Amino acid sequence: MAALDRRNWLKQSSLALAALGMGGRLMAHPQSQPADWLAPWDEDTVGKLIRIGQNENPYGVSPLARKAMAEAVAHSNRYPMEMATALREKIARLHGLSKDHVLLGAGSSELLGNTAAMCASKGANVVTADPTFKLWFTAAELYGLQIRKVPLNAGKVHQLDAMLAAMDAQTRLVYVVNPHNPTGTILPDADLLAFAERVSRSATLLIDEAYTEYADTKSLAPLVADNRQVVVAKTFSKIHGMAGARVGYVLAHPDTIKKLSPWQPWANAGPSAVSLAGAMAAMDDADFMRSTRQQNEEVRRYVMQQLNQLGLPVIPSYTSFVYYDASRFAGDLAATLQAANIQGVRTYEAGTGWRRTSIGTMDEMQAFVKVLKAALG
Ligand SMILES: Cc1ncc(COP(=O)(O)O)c(C=O)c1O
Repeated sequence: MAALDRRNWLKQSSLALAALGMGGRLMAHPQSQPADWLAPWDEDTVGKLIRIGQNENPYGVSPLARKAMAEAVAHSNRYPMEMATALREKIARLHGLSKDHVLLGAGSSELLGNTAAMCASKGANVVTADPTFKLWFTAAELYGLQIRKVPLNAGKVHQLDAMLAAMDAQTRLVYVVNPHNPTGTILPDADLLAFAERVSRSATLLIDEAYTEYADTKSLAPLVADNRQVVVAKTFSKIHGMAGARVGYVLAHPDTIKKLSPWQPWANAGPSAVSLAGAMAAMDDADFMRSTRQQNEEVRRYVMQQLNQLGLPVIPSYTSFVYYDASRFAGDLAATLQAANIQGVRTYEAGTGWRRTSIGTMDEMQAFVKVLKAALG
């Protein structure tokens, strides 16, 4: 069957199945009936493409979340205000706070942008590390914030003293990702606490904890009970395997939440009913979180060992990705992997050999290592 015919066939058969009410059952396994938008470049690669570029959870959606989401489809004719409140209450209980400390968003990225909007004013700046997670910088600049970047040290760790030194009277926001993306490093708890105390005397500290659950890093969540200048961002996209469902939240003092929420046209209404149901169930799925973390650790250890053996130095990682120096690799690493259907190498420091790759399953990472070995000889 030609590619186009096959694509049309896939589309038509999916529609027919949905009409018969069978879609849910047959689509239950992620690879049982892939839709063509999953791989618009060539559907022959669907199921074979190895995606290790976006720090997604390679073990799928939390099974409890998947079940809850399927059930919630039936309630999607209603606005999900009560569900949003229930999720906020559940998140609040997890962190020993109240629902008034919680603001939901369609992914935490939305809320990073909203925090930038809240802090922006004429001539204001945000101090952050370089490199760091910068998806929301474009929005911050549109809101008028100037981005002040402080390089990481040689071990790819935040230089907190240098960041404090970069602050001035116009600094309204300081952004720190811990554990850090893209380098996978963590900050000592005591250093981070002291830094939070210093920053919050004059600016808002936005601490991004997207990867906290992959290591035993301390959350700064308890600080928001008293400190109006600390905002903690978290997401369901990583350990819970729900990147496509778009659920994230921030924890902040209720007074700060009141300032932040008007930046959402309808506060807490970002995630759909389906996503909210999934997030609530995912929080109860301790088995999935535990197994994701264990498998991630095991595969990460393997990848780090292999990269070191290949002469590609790796930064010790506390996350679901690794940062390594591929300078030894003479060619275009991303293109070489892409040719083997592996999509995963990203560059955050232009002109250097440093690259970031997500930790997929053991099979996926063995395929990644095989390509590297073949290329490096
Ligand atoms: C540090 C960091 N913050 C936030 C996000 C975005 O998460 P979300 O999917 O909740 O928008 C990511 C995603 O890669 C991330 O790495």
